[in-house]
Amino acid sequence: MKIISDIEEMIELARQWRAAGESVGLVPTMGYLHAGHLSLIRQARADTGHVVVSIFVNPTQFGPNEDFLRYPRDLDEDKALCEQAGVDVVFTPRAAEMYPENYDIYVEAADLSRRLCGRSRPGHFRGVCTVVLKLWHIVQPHHAYFGQKDAQQFLILERMARDLNIAGLVLHQMPIIREADGLALSSRNVYLSAEERRQAPVLRRALLAAERLYAAGERQAAALLDAMRQELAQADLAMVDYLEIVDTVYLKPVAEIKGQALVALAVYFGRTRLIDNILLGEK
Ligand code: PAJ
Repeated sequence: MKIISDIEEMIELARQWRAAGESVGLVPTMGYLHAGHLSLIRQARADTGHVVVSIFVNPTQFGPNEDFLRYPRDLDEDKALCEQAGVDVVFTPRAAEMYPENYDIYVEAADLSRRLCGRSRPGHFRGVCTVVLKLWHIVQPHHAYFGQKDAQQFLILERMARDLNIAGLVLHQMPIIREADGLALSSRNVYLSAEERRQAPVLRRALLAAERLYAAGERQAAALLDAMRQELAQADLAMVDYLEIVDTVYLKPVAEIKGQALVALAVYFGRTRLIDNILLGEK
C-alpha cells in the first residue's frame, strides 16, 4: 500500500492506471475510519482494479464555530485499517496544497445546499462539493463510493456530476452501517458522553417508528413526524435540530408521501450533532 500526499504524484499515478486501461475506485473520507467507511472500501475493492482512499479533514466544509480543530484524527490506525482492507493508495493531501494562497474557486449547489443540514450548516456543502470535485480531478476515478448516512451529501454530489457534466464516473451509495443498538456509525460518536451515547439510538428508534406507520399504510407526513417527535421526547438530552420528510429530488418537505421520500433528522446531544435517515417507498 502506498501513502501519497503530493497532489502531482497522485495525478500521475492515476494517469498511468487509466492509460493501462485499469479501473480506479475512490473512497473520499475525513479519516478516523470505522466500519461504515470500511464497507465502502470493501465495495470499491470488489468493483475496481485500484482502490484509493482519501483522508483529508477538509477545512472548507466546517463552519467557524464547528469542530474542525477537534475533529478526531488517527492516521496510523487509519493506515493499518486500509492496509488490512487491501487499499492500494491512501491519499492524504496537505491543506496548504489543496487550498494554496489566493485559493478562490468554490463549487456550490444553489438550492439543495440550503435544505436539511444546509440550514444549520451554511457553507458546508460548498466545501464538500469543492473538495470532492478536486478529488475527482486528482484521482480521476471510474467509481466513487459514498454512504447513505449522508443522504443529502450524496444527492448533491450526484447533481454536481450531472450538472457539471462529469463523464465516465459512476457514483455508488452504500447502506448505513450501525452499532448493535441502532446508532449509525460516525467518527463524531466519540464526542458523546456515556449518558448521551446511551440515549443516541433514539434517532434510529424515531426513524423506525415512522417506518412502522408507513408500513401500516400511513402516508401523511404530519402523522409520521408526530410519531417521531414522541419517540424523540423519550430522550431528555436530545435537542432536535431538524426533522423532515422530503422528496428525493428537491429535498422539499412533502405533506403526503407518494413515490419515494427521505425521512431525515439531525439531533444535538450537547455540542455533538448526529444525523440519520431512512428512505420510504419506491422511486
Ligand atoms: P466522512 O464523514 O469521513 O465520511 C466518508 C464517507 O463514509 C461518506 O460517504 C459517508 O456517508 C460514509 N459513512 C459515514 N458513516 C457511515 C455509516 N455509518 N455507514 C455507511 N457509510 C458511512 O462525508 C465525508 O467524510 C466528507 O464530507 C467527504 C465526502 C470526505 C468530503 O470531505
